[in-house]
Amino acid sequence: MQHGKRILLTGATGLIGTKLFPLLCERGYEVVICSRYPEQARAKLPGAAAYLHWAPAESGPWATALDGAHAIIHLAGAPITQGLLGVRWTPAYKAEIRNSRVVGTRGLVNAIAAATQRPAVLISASAVGYYGYSDATPLDETAPPGDDFVAQICVAWEQEAVRAESLGVRVVRLRTGIVLDPHSGALAQLQVPFRMHVGGPIMPGTQYYSWIHPADELGILLLALEDERAHGPFNATAPTPQSNRDFCTTLGEVLDSPAWLPVPEFSLRLALGEMADLVVKGQCVLPARAQALGYSFKYPHLKPALQDLLK
Ligand SMILES: NC(=O)c1ccc[n+]([C@@H]2O[C@H](COP(=O)([O-])OP(=O)(O)OC[C@H]3O[C@@H](n4cnc5c(N)ncnc54)[C@H](OP(=O)(O)O)[C@@H]3O)[C@@H](O)[C@H]2O)c1
Repeated sequence: MQHGKRILLTGATGLIGTKLFPLLCERGYEVVICSRYPEQARAKLPGAAAYLHWAPAESGPWATALDGAHAIIHLAGAPITQGLLGVRWTPAYKAEIRNSRVVGTRGLVNAIAAATQRPAVLISASAVGYYGYSDATPLDETAPPGDDFVAQICVAWEQEAVRAESLGVRVVRLRTGIVLDPHSGALAQLQVPFRMHVGGPIMPGTQYYSWIHPADELGILLLALEDERAHGPFNATAPTPQSNRDFCTTLGEVLDSPAWLPVPEFSLRLALGEMADLVVKGQCVLPARAQALGYSFKYPHLKPALQDLLK
């Protein structure tokens, strides 16, 4: 138990934060939720030590709460997709995706610099998109960044977080893969055609999906928080990334609905524009650092993970 250790949590109301918050409370942390809409956060996630207004470019009482806190877990950022049909990457929305991360992280690190008692650790979200799009070549944390839109954001976002290292803070940059959740994110979208018995691979089908079960996302987050050996870039992905074709075959098996109808790339390009890259391309990312620190995956393989989530 971690009695009395204060954690500032941004993005608590999102897919990952909603699951992380009760776990941190269970472990005895005093969690301060920093949200753009603190009253909505309070209604959604009762039981936090405080609900403070936080916005990427603004200072406020959250900076006072940061002084003397044990850790900051920074998950906030404008969704890169809102369901694949929810948003388009217009220039304005691309700027929001970028600014919400880069400016937000900069503000947090500036507040760390100004604090009299600095936190021991900053865990700053990032994504496997850091590596850009590639083939089946396995990528660990030493792989270089890509140069597409998402990769450039991850690089700029991580650069802001890294500034806290020179302030004596242990910084973990968590490069998360596709978090499988039946109710939101990629899996919520991917399962729809299968449930209508018109599922199939997204062409070309050879692109890799670096997925992770939420239980392991949380496990790796806790490792990053509590194991002082954890620092620097940290991939949060299962050790068995899958090609899209294999992913969809397994999804079809679990839903008892065969993957028979391929989705042509051009139709996604037509519907999604540049954002189609997120599904017609991918990367094969391995969690080398988590495994080197002895993290034992609860769901290392896709089929049991999907069976657990979709049962
Ligand atoms: N889920 C995944 O599969 C995945 C994969 C790779 C990386 N990640 C990264 O991990 C982090 C957490 O992921 P998630 O899926 O939990 O995120 P999420 O559900 O999309 O959102 C997290 C939170 O960000 C805040 N937010 C939304 N729009 C914002 C904006 N325009 N400006 C500032 N804050 C905004 C919201 O909190 P408030 O409304 O309370 O302020 C929201 O609850 C994100 O940075 C995400 O990019 C996630």
